[in-house]
Amino acid sequence: MSNPHVLILGAPGAGKGTQSRRLVEHFGVEHVTTGDALRANKQMDISHLDLAYDTPGEYMDAGELVPDEVVNEIVKTALEDADGYVLDGYPRNESQTEYLDSITDLDAVLYLDVEEEELVRRLTGRRVCENCGATYHVDFNPPEEPGVCDECGGDLYQREDDTEETARERIQVYEENTAPVVEYFRDAGVLVEIDGEQTPDEVWEDIRDALE
Ligand code: AP5
Ligand code: MG
Ligand code: ZN
Repeated sequence: MSNPHVLILGAPGAGKGTQSRRLVEHFGVEHVTTGDALRANKQMDISHLDLAYDTPGEYMDAGELVPDEVVNEIVKTALEDADGYVLDGYPRNESQTEYLDSITDLDAVLYLDVEEEELVRRLTGRRVCENCGATYHVDFNPPEEPGVCDECGGDLYQREDDTEETARERIQVYEENTAPVVEYFRDAGVLVEIDGEQTPDEVWEDIRDALE
């Protein structure tokens, strides 16, 4: 597939970011991820929308969804600039799914299936490089030197929403809002279901098989 349009679905901690990096490397596509885009704009002033909170960061630290108006705009701009892409973290509800359908076409929809307790273990042990974004896990995928990125030597940090309490809240929000999105693509007959509890290499093999 050249310049594929890939959507990767899965609960918080399912491995979307981890596998997206491999898709980017293998297919040369853009990684379009609302989570990273919002983390880079946590303090953005959205008070004009007159909603519950005045910045994306307040929604994120509570484990809640950032309003559609904010997220749709980010995705529209990012997709306009991308040739091929892997879309990660969007759409997360029905209205985002409809919006996406109105602005682009998808070539493949992947779903990484992982059960809840494994998700919590993955989220609470995750560490991220503040310089290059590489993702580690203190037990499942530790860096050679604790706190230091193998790839670039950058410092590793823990995301503010990766406490056990917020992780469980995010999984709950996912079940309520995003699980129906998975069902929608399953019913449409386009969902490629992948066992996300395998090792990262095994998950990647299944993804490559599905796309080639
Ligand atoms: P976002 O950043 O998208 O977070 P998320 O969906 O909760 O997903 P994660 O990034 O936590 O998990 P992942 O699947 O990428 O897992 P990873 O590969 O890192 O969103 C954050 C917040 O932003 C939301 O809560 C919301 O507030 C807001 N937001 C974002 N998009 C939005 C939208 N569209 N609408 C509204 N609000 C939005 O892996 C996790 C860990 O597991 C790592 O430590 C990794 O090393 C490890 N791991 C990965 N694969 C494996 C494996 N196979 N075996 C063992 N360990 C593994
Ligand atoms: Mg991610
Ligand atoms: Zn790094």
